[in-house]
Amino acid sequence: MQRISEEKLTEIRQSVDIVDIIGNYLALNKHGRNYFGICPFHDDTTPSLSVSPEKQIFKCFSCGASGNVYTFLMEYEQLTFLESVKKISEIANIPIDIKFKEIPKTNQELYNIYETTQKFYRNNLETKYGEKVKKYLKQRNINEQLIQEFGIGLALKENQLTNFLKKKNFNNQDLLLSGLINEKEQDIFYNRIMFPIHDQNGKIIAYSGRIYQEDTYAKYINTKETPIFKKGEILYNYHRAKEITRLDKKIIVLEGFMDVIALAAVDIKNCVATMGTAMTLQQARLIKKLANEVILLFDGDEAGQKATLSAIDELLKVGITPKIVSLEEGLDPDDYLKEKGIEKFQAKLETPQNMLDFQLSYFKKGLNLKDEIDTAKYIKLMLNELSKINDKLIKELAFKKLSDETGVAINFLKKQIKEKIDVPVIKKEPSLTKYELAERYLLYYMLKSSEIIKIYRRRITYMPTYDYRLLAIEISEFYEKYGRIDVADIFTIISDNEKLTKALKKILQEDLNEEYTLEQIEDYINVINEFNLKAELDNLKTKLKATDDSKEKAKIAEKIRLLKRGDE
Ligand code: UTP
Ligand code: MN
Repeated sequence: MQRISEEKLTEIRQSVDIVDIIGNYLALNKHGRNYFGICPFHDDTTPSLSVSPEKQIFKCFSCGASGNVYTFLMEYEQLTFLESVKKISEIANIPIDIKFKEIPKTNQELYNIYETTQKFYRNNLETKYGEKVKKYLKQRNINEQLIQEFGIGLALKENQLTNFLKKKNFNNQDLLLSGLINEKEQDIFYNRIMFPIHDQNGKIIAYSGRIYQEDTYAKYINTKETPIFKKGEILYNYHRAKEITRLDKKIIVLEGFMDVIALAAVDIKNCVATMGTAMTLQQARLIKKLANEVILLFDGDEAGQKATLSAIDELLKVGITPKIVSLEEGLDPDDYLKEKGIEKFQAKLETPQNMLDFQLSYFKKGLNLKDEIDTAKYIKLMLNELSKINDKLIKELAFKKLSDETGVAINFLKKQIKEKIDVPVIKKEPSLTKYELAERYLLYYMLKSSEIIKIYRRRITYMPTYDYRLLAIEISEFYEKYGRIDVADIFTIISDNEKLTKALKKILQEDLNEEYTLEQIEDYINVINEFNLKAELDNLKTKLKATDDSKEKAKIAEKIRLLKRGDE
């Protein structure tokens, strides 16, 4: 990341008032020393967001969002840190030279080609050749407004995109790379309805073309993968869903982009679609950025169910337990809407199946649970799925369900999983131990008072938890450098470190008294130091066991004795 000096960052930050900045986005009301507003980062009903003019930070009591002006813009407008600094510096009227990572020239050319092409395809649809297509679209419930919204266009035999683009002086190599034109300098797409595909920021990065009359060719063809278009890394409609899902964090994942448009036609707009391939981990991560409630609404055929199972796997890896809506009779969402109507469709959406029930009924298919061999097969299949669940409670309930259903004791089932499968360890939020709490509390007051930073520097060798240790070091170094402590500046300093930012938010979320007593601080320090001492002793004892050298043994034993006496 480009370095901007801490001094400059502080200067910019201090020359605006966080109350004004946030006040531009939401209504704030003064209450005592702070201002309050409806939190934009969760589905808030009471004003839970507080903005402190003294500390120049915001904090939500309900969802845990917090930060300084830079963080606010980053999260509200989905900006990078530098983009956010740039914006604030403009408001503050402080000139600052930020060079954004340059987009490689070829990529920029590709964006230009696709953008120019968009006008061409859109225009074609409005000519007499477009009439037939409009009829087709209308019959699919896609009206003028949706055509505009999704940028739907038309590629024709009658007029060649190639000529049009050549007149605009794009070079051959870039045109070839775009996947719109072949080596013989001819259009790859003609007589197809053209759907632009956008990246997360709304730039066109590809096209998909669908036939609209009897044709022997593939129903859809996409432009090929390029440096800016990787099917497994993008989701159709993501840039629009980003806005829609901001408040309620609910998203529907579909298999085809036509389904996204079909649902938009009945005003369901919080949808994204994979590009006809199995969901990847990257796509699961993208979804996680937008939503915590995910509904998988795939085609109602065998392929759709398989795709659902594998999407579940990827989503579990990022900590999402999705819900499932299954459509019967091999229908896809678009067909279902047309055949069964909006009410039935809505009812389905409102009563999704939980992930477990979906898996249970999927694996039960074709098996007879009165037959022991079949039952064993079923249990094995389900155990394989259960092993991927990290949420302890959900896992426990799943075991219970499987046990009830098959009559096999729950403990026996659990043992099978332990012996058979290496459960991948994926990060989870463990419950806090006494010393972790002490670390949090101590850090909380270090962020408030330089007195506590001094005590920390004198008394604590190090914090046991890695992220808290780094955070304590940042705070302590900041104090050493500037002779003061400022939470808002700590946010700036660690802004490029996601883990530390998360740790800081957790600490600020602790609901502690503004005032502290030195006894209280002493308590925290003792808990932390006791923990460190015990860890050190355990370490030495392990070493003692491991060595056969009697001199070495004596040396370690002496160390242990001294540590226990507290002489060291
Ligand atoms: P589907 O065959 O389910 O298409 O393919 P659909 O969404 O129902 O489309 P309509 O209703 O027939 O128009 C789902 C996705 O698979 C990819 C496309 O990305 C499509 O959105 N696909 C499908 C292709 O790439 N090529 C094909 O020939 C078919
Ligand atoms: Mn369809």
